[in-house]
Order: sequence, then structure tokens, then C-alpha cells
Amino acid sequence: MTDTTVDRAQDRATTHLRPVAHFTAHDTWLNDPNGLVFHDGTWHLFFQNNPHGDTHGNMSWGHATSTDLVTWTEQPVAIRHTDTEEIFSGSAVVDEKNTAGFAGPGQTALVAIYTSAYRPTHPTLAGRQAQSLAYSLDDGRTWTRYEGNPVLDRESADFRDPKVFWYDGADGDGYWVMAAVEAADRQVVLYRSDDLKQWHHLSTFGPAHATGGVWECPDLFPLSVRGTDRARWVMIVSLNPGGVAGGSGVQYFVGDFDGTTFVPDGPGGGPQGADWLDHGRDYYAPVSFNGVADGRRLTVGWASNWDYANDTPTAPWRSAMSLARELELVRTTDGRDRVVQRPVLPEEPRDGLVVHEVEVPTDEGRRHEIVLHGDGPDAVVLTVDAAARTLTGDRRRSGDTEFHPAFPSVDTAPLHDAGATVDLTVVVDGCVLEVFACGGLTALTQLVFPSTPLTRVTVREVAAA
Ligand code: FRU
Repeated sequence: MTDTTVDRAQDRATTHLRPVAHFTAHDTWLNDPNGLVFHDGTWHLFFQNNPHGDTHGNMSWGHATSTDLVTWTEQPVAIRHTDTEEIFSGSAVVDEKNTAGFAGPGQTALVAIYTSAYRPTHPTLAGRQAQSLAYSLDDGRTWTRYEGNPVLDRESADFRDPKVFWYDGADGDGYWVMAAVEAADRQVVLYRSDDLKQWHHLSTFGPAHATGGVWECPDLFPLSVRGTDRARWVMIVSLNPGGVAGGSGVQYFVGDFDGTTFVPDGPGGGPQGADWLDHGRDYYAPVSFNGVADGRRLTVGWASNWDYANDTPTAPWRSAMSLARELELVRTTDGRDRVVQRPVLPEEPRDGLVVHEVEVPTDEGRRHEIVLHGDGPDAVVLTVDAAARTLTGDRRRSGDTEFHPAFPSVDTAPLHDAGATVDLTVVVDGCVLEVFACGGLTALTQLVFPSTPLTRVTVREVAAA
């Protein structure tokens, strides 16, 4: 048997695990979403990709496009690793004003700001991580590296994941802001630039809240508070390990940003402003799209966990993105501004994707199980415990769980502001399960590898714990 035959056989065995609305690479590895940008009617999803294999390595920017956020077409690799440099995570902007000077007359440049992770073979920058630019003059199809790279070098081995966005200064005098991490120091460093090439340090945030692992993939954006005309600023920080469910996870801070410094809500400044964006084990490195003119804040995350991401049982592809999520803030009864997330779903039903809208009562400390199952014995049990005000996702008997000891898990999420009922939106798509509760105040994402698809749902009341 040749390797290709093995791949085909494995692919057939795991076909039902490949999601239909969550992006997967055709036959390679992916991790973080990169360079999320909307331009000229097209959503661009670049992503950490190994173009030569199904485990992490040879990091390059893969590329996919969509017009609806749920139907993705994989494009040729956008920015490829070299013998001396891997292309780590970063962002992309539409340089409308041609601030970097990459565009000719009548052209608009898309500019990618990514981390150059220099390999030991690099003659002068071995082991370092610094920020670099590449630009595209053909709507993201082909990319040219800027000859002045790197544009921002702190002589650090852990300086990565630049998220760049346009900040409208108070006097209309805008500039570019970069949020990146000094990962090992658990810090987000903020820089500003007028031309994407020269960067000036603004401020440093952290360590704060969860610090049990390196900080990665920051994002910083304004977000309006529902029912008000106010916007707050949200900073997203992924960390690995030290996540709420074990392994990698995502925290966020709500606060204010004055163009220089981010100040989270907290002691002295109001209620503590830190929380978890998702309480399942399989949601990491989410960042938001640039270039969205209608004011929506849309994110995509990576649906996996570094604890076992390289071992998940699919072939020849490995790993999926989350659905896109639309974010908003709501003020909860404890006086805090919290993020709510709503998944972007296909408008028409799709084979392989099921969405269950479930509502269960919460009176008298009742407990309900929402059992996701298929034709076989494999199932995921979601439990809404009204007394504990929690949602749990138990995937210990969800199919193939043995490929890594950290995989079989029961993940627990708080239910904030649950009223007389708790509403759940449960999305099952191949190997990805995303659960949104209480209008999206709680999210819980888990991978599952059942032997037959978990297309059905049974809701039952069980005895209180
Ligand atoms: C996060 C991360 C980033 C890095 C990339 C490498 O998952 O570790 O910090 O840029 O993945 O693939």
C-alpha cells in the first residue's frame, strides 16, 4: 500500500468527522486563524498551516475565502516558510490610504503583519521572533514580502502574534495600533505606526488574571454595549496552558483604551473585568476581522487544544476552525459588561450540520440533560444544573477518546443571569460541538470523535445532584 492509499482509507473512515460549515484544510494541518479581513465582498481567512503535513511544523499562512462565512474555499498557500524563517500568526489590514506605499495608482494593498519565527539556520536572527510585512495587490491571491523585514524586532525569542488595527484618534488623526505579546512575560505590548513600517511603543499590559501559561494571540477592539450608545474596549488574550478547562484557553478583559493605554475594569475602576470567552477545551486563538464596515465584530477561533491538537484522530486533514461568532457586550445584573457570542450559521439546512435550539426550566433547582447521540452508543451529555447555575459538557463516552489522556473531559461553564429558563443553541458539525447558552453569555466548545454522527438530541430531567 502506498501512503496515498492509506490516506484515502483513513479519510473514508473519518469523513463524517469533517465539518461542513467549520473550515478545515483539505489534506493538511491547521492551527490559529490569521489575517482575518473582509475586502471587496470577500471574507479572507488565513491560517497557520503546515503545507507538507498533518502536524504542527513548517508554519506558513494558508488561505481560504468565503462570501458568507460558512462556505469556505481553500486557496493556494499565501505566505510560505523558508529554510530560515517560519511564518507565525498575525493579522491583515486594508491599507486604504496607502500609508505603507505598497500600492500603485488605482490599487489598494492588503498588508499582512506576521511574526517571523527565525529558525536556527538564520545567519543573524536565529531563535528570534520579530514582526514582518507582506503585501498583496491582487486581493490576497499573491503576496510579496517587504524587503525591509523585520519591521519590529525587540531581540526577543517570544515576541509574536501582532494584531494591527486602525485607531481613529480623538481629533480624527488616526494611526495604526499593534497589539502583540511578549508571550513568556505574560504581557501584551502596544505599538503605534503611521506607515506600518516604523513602530513606537505605547504601553504594556499584564501580567493579569490568568497567567498559568504563555500569553498568545491578543486582540483589542471597541465593542458596543447592547441597549446603549456606549462602546467599551475588549482585549482578548489566549493562554497556554492555564486555560479554564485545562490546557489552552481564552480570557478577555473589558475596559477602556485611550489610544495609548488599555485599562481593564477592576478594583477601584468598577467590577473586575476579566472572564473566559469559552469554557470548553477546544477554543483557542480567536481574533476578529478587520475591514468590516457595518460595525459588526466577528471572530473566528481554532477549535482545538495544544494538549492534544497533534493527536486528534482525523486524516488526512487535522483541526478545524470554530464558526464565526458575532460579539456584543451586555451588562449583567452583577454590574459587569460581559461578552455575548452568537454563531454565524448557514441560512439553508446542510447535511452534516445540526442546530438544536433547546430551552429548559431552571425552577426549584432542577437538572436537565441534553443528550447528543446518533445511531451508535456514543453520546455527549450536556447538563444544565439550575441549583449550581452551571452547564457541563461530558464527552467521556463520545467515541474515540483514547488518543490522548487529556481528551476525555467534563467541562463546566457558569450560567450568568439565567432566568426561569435557560436557552441553548447547540451546533454539531462533524467533530466540532459548539454550545451557546443564556443568549450567548456562555460558550462551550468541544471536539468529539464519534463512530457515527451525533445528529439527534434527547432532553430529559434527571434527579437533582
Ligand atoms: C498559538 C501559537 C502562536 C504562534 C502560532 C504558531 O496557537 O502558538 O503564538 O504564532 O501558534 O503556529
